[in-house]
Order: sequence, then C-alpha cells, then structure tokens
Amino acid sequence: MGLNFKLQENFRKKHLSKDVIEKLFKMPIETTELEKIIFLMKKEVLPYCSNFGTEKFMGFPDAGNSIAGISGAVLSDFLQQNLINSSFCAPIATYMEIAVIKWLREIVGYENIEINNIWDVGGIITYGGTGSNSIAMLLARENHKQNTMKKGVINPDDYKVIIPKGIGHYSIKSSLMWIGCGDNVIEVPTIDFKYDLKELKKVLLENKGKIMSVVAYIGDSRSMTIDNLKEIDKIVKEIDNNIWLHADACHGFSLGFSEKLKSKISGIELFDSISTDPHKVLAIPYTVSALLLKNPETLKKVTTTSDLIMKEDYAFGQVTPFIGSKSWMSLKVWLAFQNIGKNGIAEIIERRCQMAQYLKEMLDNRKEYIVLNDVDINSVMFMYVGDKNNITMTVDEINNFNKRIKEKMDIDGIYFLHQFSINDDNKKISENAVLYPLRYMSGNDNITKDNINSMIMYIDNIIKNLNK
Ligand SMILES: Cc1ncc(COP(=O)(O)O)c(C=O)c1O
Repeated sequence: MGLNFKLQENFRKKHLSKDVIEKLFKMPIETTELEKIIFLMKKEVLPYCSNFGTEKFMGFPDAGNSIAGISGAVLSDFLQQNLINSSFCAPIATYMEIAVIKWLREIVGYENIEINNIWDVGGIITYGGTGSNSIAMLLARENHKQNTMKKGVINPDDYKVIIPKGIGHYSIKSSLMWIGCGDNVIEVPTIDFKYDLKELKKVLLENKGKIMSVVAYIGDSRSMTIDNLKEIDKIVKEIDNNIWLHADACHGFSLGFSEKLKSKISGIELFDSISTDPHKVLAIPYTVSALLLKNPETLKKVTTTSDLIMKEDYAFGQVTPFIGSKSWMSLKVWLAFQNIGKNGIAEIIERRCQMAQYLKEMLDNRKEYIVLNDVDINSVMFMYVGDKNNITMTVDEINNFNKRIKEKMDIDGIYFLHQFSINDDNKKISENAVLYPLRYMSGNDNITKDNINSMIMYIDNIIKNLNK
C-alpha cells in the first residue's frame, strides 16, 4: 500500500472537507480487525495524503523515497531499541549511531578523535533541524555565560544572536525564546541572500560582549544560498573570539559528499556547531537530524546525569537535551549509507543540483519569467512577470498573479511548488520589494529534464488561462 502510494503520479488526489475531518474525530468504541482498518485507510485516508515521493512534488526536498531509508524506518520500529542508554536499551544500536555521526563529521570536514565515551563522539542525533538548532543555541548560551544551566538567564539582553535578515529559519528565534533568552535576535541585512559583511561587522562592534552566537546558512530554507563562511569566521573571531559560530547546514551539508561540489561549503569546518538534516536531503523518511560539534567535549556543558538513564560511558541520553527515550532514527541513515555509499550519494546530489541549473537556464531564456536567485544548490525562485525586457506590471500585480498561479496549482493537486515571501535581494524586479515567487526545489532522484519541461508547460498553460 505504501509503495503504491509513493508510485502514484500526482501530488494529491483529493481535497479535505469538513465532514471528512469530523469523521476522523469519532472515538472507536468496538474492536475492528486491523485488515479492515487498513482497507479503509486505503480508501478514505490515502487520497487526501500529499505524496512527496512523486516527480511532480517539486516544492521542497523531503522526498523520503530512499528504499534503504524506508527499510530502516520500518525495521527500527520492529526492533524497538531505545538510544537513551547502551547497556540494556541499545547495545549495538548505540555504536551504529556513533558510526553515523562519525561519517557525517567526515563529510563536513570535522576531525574525528578516538572514541572512549559519549563525550568524544562530537554529535547527537535529534528529531529534526529545529531540535538540532535549539541544542546548538543551548550550547552557545552555556559557552557565552558559563553555568546559565544552573543560574538561569539573568538579563536576556545579554544573550543576543545574529541571523541574516529575511532568510533565517524560524527555529533560531523560537529556540532562543524556548531556552529563556527572550526575543533577542538581531537581523543583519543581506546582499544576494548572504550577510552584508560590512553590516555584520558594524552590528558585532555595536553589541560587543552581548552576542552569544552568529548563525550562518549553508542553504537557507528559501533561496538555498551558501553564505561567505570563511569571511564570517574571520570577522567574528577578530571582534570576539568567544562568539559561538553556528552553521545551519540542514540542506547544504549534502554537498560535502561530492568531490566536485564540496569546495562550495569550504569553511563550514571552522564553525563550532553544524545542523544537518538527512531527512531533508538524503531522501530519508521523517525524522532524523544530527547536530555536529567541532569540539566534542562541549556537550559536557549540557550533560544530564541520572541513574534512570544510566551513568555509563555510552549513554546518549546524557547528552541529548529535551529528549528522553529516543527511537533508532539513525538506522535509516546507516542503511542508506551502506546501500548507496558515499560515492552513490554524491552522484545523486550532483544530479539534483544539475536539474535545478537546467530549470534556471531554461527560465533565463524565457522572456516571461525572472529567476530571483543565483542557484547555489537546488532552489530556483522564479516569477512570471509578463515580459522581463519591458515589465509593465506593478510589484503588487506581479505578486497577485503569481499567487493566483499557486492557487490554481493547489486546486489541481497535480504539481507542487512552494511559495513564500522573500525580499528582492538581487534587485531583479524592484529594490526592497517583498516578492511571492514560485519555488522549485526537489530532492527526488528520479526527476528528469522531461519532468521539468512538463511542469513549465503546465504553468504556461495556467498563465494562458489566467491571461484570457
Ligand atoms: C535551513 C533550515 N533549518 C532548519 C529547518 C528545520 O528543520 P526541521 O523541519 O527538520 O525541524 C529547516 C526546515 O525547513 C530549514 O530549511
């Protein structure tokens, strides 16, 4: 049933209605055979589910269609290992989780040391990028003012974090509020979806002593741009060597697999912590993320000890804030690594980037469309503008038109492209304008040039009808 679902062509079959939802809320009182329920699910649930695995889902990368990854997901539920401790909950799983962390560290260019206990591993598996970013912020907080864990935050204003304006993922701002540091992000202006380095320097100097972390994106959620990592490191270290540098590489770490592409993320290894999301970019089903740490020992700052989670050398539960019992999520990644291998994954990532370049070049050659970003990885943000050599539509008209394209796509349920607000950082349409582009980004390995051609033909058709 699962495979048939993934192999269905369109993104979604049916739109949810109120009665369908109300039916779901009814408490089951009597026993029903599992087989019957599964049959009902097929008929009454699956048509409403979104299929991220189809080639027509081109909105964001989480395809989740790695066969090895799905096998790991199913198997880990059967095996019921708990990664909270090693001695009796996860005897071999703990070491396989350590292996996954070691491999990811190698991919981003961190050194691995000999492992004699959990504090030598240099990373933890979490439930997602939001979790990894939150724990990174917790580490930044402890690094900034020792023992805040025990004393609490006295003055949140002294725990500021710098993020790039307009492209930061909400998880940084939210996690700071969750960990008691208040709503204290400073948003620094960007150029071409990267920090304006002059402004960064200015803000660092103005707030000297109060900045606990600077966050940079190696593939931000919208434009997938890779920031100037080495320059950021240099500027920050010159002003305050104690500032925690965090790289949100939930998407971009994937380039580290490829010998051809890894130079694009060079400098990432200078950062104190790195968030990675295999469930986004390695086609692994939800959820699994890894937070990696340049200096493995830093996890001592947030260690929890209790004989309930075993005070033992290899109990991960001691170094995973916010997480108690933890399923064997890393098995999905372990199996995919074993099955596809580093070189195989590199080929997939290279092809994925090539597909995005193909779309960008195609749209660059069409007068009706403008591409807003420089396609560093696999995001193509584009807009219909009438005629880009002679734009007569206002920004509002362009935004409204592109929103109507998206509305029609959502009603049809055939293709999926993402849409969100973004500043016109590259000044492609109008300086300082807030735009609502259509965004292609796909992690589906099966997408071909033909699929991309068909998607654009489909959009051309919508435009034709809207222009009638
Ligand atoms: C750059 C970036 N960081 C963090 C996250 C959060 O990841 P998750 O949804 O796995 O919590 C996302 C999600 O889209 C993201 O794009």
